[in-house]
Amino acid sequence: MQAWVIGNWKQNPATSKDVNTLLDNLLVASEDRGADNPYCHLMVAPSCVHLAAVSARLQNASIQVSAQNISAHSATVGAYTGDCSAQQVADAGASWTLLGHSERRQYHHESNDSLLAKLNCAFAQGLGVVLCIGETQEEYDAKQTISVLDEQLTVVESLLQTDSVQTQALAERLIIAYEPVWAIGTGKVPTVSEVSATHQHIKQQIASFAPKSPEVTVLYGGSVNADNADSFAASAMIDGALVGGASLKADSFLAIADAFSRAKG
Ligand code: 13P
Repeated sequence: MQAWVIGNWKQNPATSKDVNTLLDNLLVASEDRGADNPYCHLMVAPSCVHLAAVSARLQNASIQVSAQNISAHSATVGAYTGDCSAQQVADAGASWTLLGHSERRQYHHESNDSLLAKLNCAFAQGLGVVLCIGETQEEYDAKQTISVLDEQLTVVESLLQTDSVQTQALAERLIIAYEPVWAIGTGKVPTVSEVSATHQHIKQQIASFAPKSPEVTVLYGGSVNADNADSFAASAMIDGALVGGASLKADSFLAIADAFSRAKG
């Protein structure tokens, strides 16, 4: 299975000029490395406002582009002020979207119902989905990680009861990103064996919903950097990384991709 390393730029960089500088550095550094990430897909998720410009600049590069979110209200158009539809982000050049990031769950109170609507909108427009799940520090301390993840994954079970994704296509169009909330931007990380056991559970849970589907890709996210990437990449259960802070520098982002490429090659 080819690994995935995805940069979630969140509400960064500040200006289009800074976006272009980051892209310049990414393109130069990835050219220097040549096509030497054959075992690792690369993707970046810029803010909605930068999506079209980033997609245009990456058109001939082997770096895919993802949105960070889409509207739950309509896959196409409508009177939904402040929202961007799946069709609009696809038209801007995105082939994937993140959904359910803990920052969206926390600041925008995203529920499983709205996530199910977003998943259906994404698939209706041919977008792949990186569905983010993860427990808070309190839930981790109370040893509730698995029950929290199971509750968050019920959205996948519900999805399979709709027509929008064929079970066979699930593994191609859906990636799960396990991101413990307490590890995001904190420098704290779970042990590799904890992450591996959690990923194994996630894979089993999805397989129980869709026994005929090939194994789903599960990424780890939360304080991944150039120094710890090798240790996560060494686990057969960790199929890649969803990277925040370290994706804002070309060198650290590509070093993480190299770590996964080496380990999965
Ligand atoms: P950091 O890599 O900055 O911890 O962020 C992880 C994340 O939230 C990616 O979606």
